[in-house]
Amino acid sequence: VIEQVGAREILDSRGNPTVEVEVALDDGTFARAAVPSGASTGEHEAVELRDGGDRYGGKGVTQAVEGVLGELAPSVIGLPAEEQRLVDQALLDADGTPDKSRLGANALLGVSLAVAKAGAESSDLELFRYLGGPNGHVLPVPMMNILNGGAHADTGVDVQEFMVAPIGAPSFKESLRWGAEVYHSLKAVLKKKGLSTGLGDEGGFAPDVAGTREALDVISDAVAATGLVLGRDVALALDVAATEFHSDAGYAFEGTTKTAAQMTEFYRELLGSYPLVSIEDPLSEDDWDGWAELTAAIGDKIQIVGDDLFVTNPARLRTGIDKSAANALLVKVNQIGTLTETNDAVDLAHRSGFRTMMSHRSGETEDTTIADLAVALNCGQIKTGAPARSERVAKYNQLLRIEESLGDAGRYAGAGAFPRFSP
Ligand code: PGA
Ligand code: ZN
Repeated sequence: VIEQVGAREILDSRGNPTVEVEVALDDGTFARAAVPSGASTGEHEAVELRDGGDRYGGKGVTQAVEGVLGELAPSVIGLPAEEQRLVDQALLDADGTPDKSRLGANALLGVSLAVAKAGAESSDLELFRYLGGPNGHVLPVPMMNILNGGAHADTGVDVQEFMVAPIGAPSFKESLRWGAEVYHSLKAVLKKKGLSTGLGDEGGFAPDVAGTREALDVISDAVAATGLVLGRDVALALDVAATEFHSDAGYAFEGTTKTAAQMTEFYRELLGSYPLVSIEDPLSEDDWDGWAELTAAIGDKIQIVGDDLFVTNPARLRTGIDKSAANALLVKVNQIGTLTETNDAVDLAHRSGFRTMMSHRSGETEDTTIADLAVALNCGQIKTGAPARSERVAKYNQLLRIEESLGDAGRYAGAGAFPRFSP
């Protein structure tokens, strides 16, 4: 039974405030969780409560902390930690708004995650076993973001994330080594070309390359230099985050203004040149018709992932399924604000033939809950940045521990995680 709930303001990986919550149970169990924060946030995400004013440039979270202590704590104290659905419903009722704008999704999520971790601790189970039971056994393909652009870098690169996916690795452990070797190889390639090896928000390099093709070319060179085979061992993936450069005029992309149909044609051509297995947010967050046409045009060849489009919201995902507007869901716990709703979104996706990719935010902490969640929910894919920088690596390292713990019961998702390589 939940006995105490505490909260404080801590710093995230960008040096901005975020919420940390601590939960104590009556059996002496204690757990702690921290909340991530995005930069290229979707319009339809649950509301992240920020103080405003001068403190921390307006980004303080003291009101969210006060909400945890004054309203969320009394609503869950006395409830059994193992009843996650009851706990999350109590949090939703306490907030009372559809978008969690009164107390903040950052306040609700901190409590929701800390309660789950306390429940696991109290049951003497690792978090992924507690949340997933005997079904949680798939080690996800790490989608490692090794070249950062868009809102995560100061360059003119429009595409936000260029990822490598070590689909051919025999295990998660080997996939991580391959990704790290490509990462270091990319640094050497960039240096040789006289390009910057400074880093973006997710730990990837942030060179001022001319555009999408040059970025994919330097990454392809980096893969080749390691001896790994592009397309067989390592595939490529993008998060375009197209909402960021979309306006009423269209898509302001790489020097011209494009329509959704022209963006789709650009992606279709890219597919012919590079072994891409996944494109996230290829179009803007409310361009449902554009998404449906794009999915009809190239969705049989590649995974189309909705991030800003779905915001981990089961209702928006339902709309997307009905419209065939994508074929995969990006999963971010803080976009929706509770573990139960996250679980329901993943469940709906899987039942509808959509694939799922668990995801960090560009602003992260040392909390590793999403690594356990990816395995518990059999997502098959996780993106948590470059294989460098502790707030990113913390999640990959946790997956190493989980793989060891599962032993022969575990299975690395590999190429089967993606439609392009599935039978
Ligand atoms: P964000 O970026 O956390 O800044 O929103 C991640 C993403 O767009 O997937
Ligand atoms: Zn995204």
